[in-house]
Amino acid sequence: MLDIAIDGPSGAGKSTVSRAAAAALGFIYVDTGALYRAVGVAALKRSIPTKDREAVAAMLPELTITLAFVEGEQHVYLNGEDVSKTIRLPEASMAASDVSAVPAVRAFLFDLQRNLAKSNDCIMDGRDIGTVVLPDAGLKIFLTASAEERARRRFLELEQRGTPVEYETLLQEIRDRDYQDSHREIAPLKPADDAVTVDTTGVPFDEVVAKIVALARETMDALAASGKTGDALHD
Ligand code: DC
Repeated sequence: MLDIAIDGPSGAGKSTVSRAAAAALGFIYVDTGALYRAVGVAALKRSIPTKDREAVAAMLPELTITLAFVEGEQHVYLNGEDVSKTIRLPEASMAASDVSAVPAVRAFLFDLQRNLAKSNDCIMDGRDIGTVVLPDAGLKIFLTASAEERARRRFLELEQRGTPVEYETLLQEIRDRDYQDSHREIAPLKPADDAVTVDTTGVPFDEVVAKIVALARETMDALAASGKTGDALHD
């Protein structure tokens, strides 16, 4: 069994790269940001201010969040409702970042993430996968790109969708979210000591995917040669 942790800032391409690499390797792909987004959406639905830590924590016993994989695509359910589309709305992004700073929210989502990794070969992406959720992952990658490049990608994506937003606004949003995600007290965004940093600035998508697939294959070969499991490689 091999677990691959991919962490990095918003807009580094983690989800598209992870999805493609998981498909090439025959692994499941778990997007943990979707879980924080689902908690953010739950707060928005209840008109709970997402920065009010006590109110957010008090809401958690009312929530059941589950993931299902339909034809390889992850769907996230909030109390039985498929919220996979709602969690992608722009207001869900900042709400997710806010609630992700609440320790009770991180504890609430911890077991769900661990259990998914325990029972599957997986690529899991997020902010604290290599540092907190799967500290023994067989391979850890920190995927990053300059803030300008990430804003440019987001600009093109929104323009293609017919909902353009000014580049400067996007760049500021990315900087704000980076700051918030890397300066929180609990599980801040940072590379694990044993992570391989992959900077995707100016690198074509296919090359990034090929690099990760190659690193995964090298890790699997090393595991096979040592007779160890993925979790034991870093012991
Ligand atoms: O990856 P994303 O943009 O969907 O994540 C949404 C927010 O959730 C992001 O601002 C940081 C937070 N997050 C986190 O704190 N830990 C994770 N493992 C994944 C996401």
